[in-house]
Amino acid sequence: MIKDDSAFEQWQSAAQSGELEFHVHRKKPDQTLEKLNGELFEGFGFQAQQFAGKTVVDIGAGSHLRTRFFQEATVVAVEPLANDYLEQIEWCELADADVVHSVSAEKRIEELEGAADLVVCINVLDHTYNPGTIIENIHHYLHEDGQFLLSVDLHGETNDGMHPVELTVPSLIELLCERGFAIDRGYLYLPYQRTYGHGDAVTFVMHRRGPDEPSGRDVVLQRLRTPGQLVAEEIQRRTSSICRRIKRVFTGESRGIRRLFGKAA
Ligand SMILES: C[S@@+](CC[C@H](N)C(=O)[O-])C[C@H]1O[C@@H](n2cnc3c(N)ncnc32)[C@H](O)[C@@H]1O
Repeated sequence: MIKDDSAFEQWQSAAQSGELEFHVHRKKPDQTLEKLNGELFEGFGFQAQQFAGKTVVDIGAGSHLRTRFFQEATVVAVEPLANDYLEQIEWCELADADVVHSVSAEKRIEELEGAADLVVCINVLDHTYNPGTIIENIHHYLHEDGQFLLSVDLHGETNDGMHPVELTVPSLIELLCERGFAIDRGYLYLPYQRTYGHGDAVTFVMHRRGPDEPSGRDVVLQRLRTPGQLVAEEIQRRTSSICRRIKRVFTGESRGIRRLFGKAA
């Protein structure tokens, strides 16, 4: 579940350096990624023109600015590694944001209070160190009619050190409802695959709960993948993993084979 102290240590010592390494070496976003990104927002019920002339805040925006999907919107990115990404990644799409705050989302940004028509937080919350504070800040950033799109992988402990926070559907719903949100709709999986990387992706679209308004905590998650699609994707994932291992053996990149020959020598 959510363990703030150890999460902060892991965030500082391992997660963010791993994150920087990943983004600096990732492939430049291409048309396929843009197409999937469009499918993502549309699958969650949004359209490209919906926030024209309005303000979209992208929390943990990364290097590929997903919220460029929203045409003619003012995009504000909050990304603790923004300065590093902009300095080290030649194509970094944060350069297309209208405003960039290079700070973690746990820090309250006064100028954003009441300013956002939409706050987007995609594949971020499990990478942070204090999700509760982030959700409170987002609540402050939304103006009265604003919407919040939260999408995140739910997984147990991962062994890569990059996911300090473990969430479950009930713990996430509790976190959101306790901090004043009303849930309008929810989704399990993504429109084109199961997960962003680990476990199962879950998504909620919310607004600030008014007095006496129901919280929507009993929301039924709409499944975006069929059981058949999940099985086919799992087979494909395992096949690719085996092919990568075989390739490493033949190219001499396999650590197991190197150790074996090292011992024999
Ligand atoms: C997996 S990437 C996702 C990036 C982007 N949202 C996307 O979907 O492509 C996670 C991002 O969250 C950022 N992040 C990690 N901890 C954060 C925090 N405490 N506040 C805001 N962003 C954070 C990381 O720096 C990284 O860029």
